[in-house]
Amino acid sequence: MTALDDEVRVIDAGRPPARFARGWHCLGLADAFKDGRPHEIEAFGTRLVVFQGRDDGALHVLNAYCPHMGGNLAQGTVKGDAVACPFHDWRWAGDGRCAGVPYARRVPPRARTRAWTALERNRQLFVWNDPEGNPPPPGVTIPELPGIHGPGAAEWSDWTWKTLRVEGSHCREIVDNVVDMAHFYYVHYAFPEYFKNVFDGHVATQYMESSPRGDMELGTLSAGRLRSDASYHGPSYMIDHLHSDVGGGLEMEIVLINCHYPIDENSFLLQYGAIVKRLPGMTDEQAADAARLTAEGATVGFEQDVEIWRNKTRIDNPLLTEEDGPVYQLRRWYEQFYVDAADVKDEMTRRFEFEVDTRRANEAWHAEVAENLARRAAGPAEAS
Ligand code: FES
Ligand SMILES: [Fe+2]
Repeated sequence: MTALDDEVRVIDAGRPPARFARGWHCLGLADAFKDGRPHEIEAFGTRLVVFQGRDDGALHVLNAYCPHMGGNLAQGTVKGDAVACPFHDWRWAGDGRCAGVPYARRVPPRARTRAWTALERNRQLFVWNDPEGNPPPPGVTIPELPGIHGPGAAEWSDWTWKTLRVEGSHCREIVDNVVDMAHFYYVHYAFPEYFKNVFDGHVATQYMESSPRGDMELGTLSAGRLRSDASYHGPSYMIDHLHSDVGGGLEMEIVLINCHYPIDENSFLLQYGAIVKRLPGMTDEQAADAARLTAEGATVGFEQDVEIWRNKTRIDNPLLTEEDGPVYQLRRWYEQFYVDAADVKDEMTRRFEFEVDTRRANEAWHAEVAENLARRAAGPAEAS
């Protein structure tokens, strides 16, 4: 034995970044904030307040803590187009300006709190986070989903929307899923038969075709074959176009949103929602049911991931095989959101394509599943 043989791979757990990603972050379904009350959001290491102006109807996002003496505006009330602090009733307009102090002769001249750039799209609400304080560059936006607005909208169901708070993990864990072909078999109980990644600019895509394992019940999403084109638009908002084989030669078209925002350096709020396109003859109710079932399938999948994250370590130097996909390249792509805009390097944004050769993996997995099924058929006496 040489000294080299003794060398073991030492995990470098690194440290989560000290800042939060630059980009659009989805806060949830817009309608959820339109009940006339202020809402508190725990995000970016602080608290935000979301409220709808009574007169202008627009959704506004401000720092939750009142610059007067620190009251929490989310505990206040909406008065006109402003949110009123519960502590001394200072009024804060959607643009961050103090709109009035009812008991004072005059408002301090520079009374202003932080207003976050907000965007309503796909019936969801987004805020722009940039540690450098710049507005979103042109072209960096959330794409509109065809059919959600305008013509064709009636063909789609309503959103089923869900949230899951993940403690003790940086949100990089969920982004790693973009390239992680093998975990779809082990964690989500599917055969990933085709698997390809394309990274380009601020978009990272995963193309996958999969079919469920026959030996496991808690597979995700689909009982049949599934085609998934899933893209992160920026650091945290993924649109997943799914085509699901529902039998009888029918394919269901689903849009699944998978998004998150950081609560702090080591926890995040995962949100996901589904809509489905009505199949011929489907009623509103059936379409809504299909969306609900899809979202429930996604719940199973995310809970499977969360269970792994809760027990794993952060790792900055994963030890990889060819079948593991371009983990390092994905992380270079992800890094662009954590450095100053001036420090974004070509290697983070340049177009990159990689198709994982899944043949060897699927051969091994099919053999394993066949073995599991044979053992099960042989009965409990044979089970080891
Ligand atoms: S702390 Fe908000 S009004 Fe005083
Ligand atoms: Fe996963």
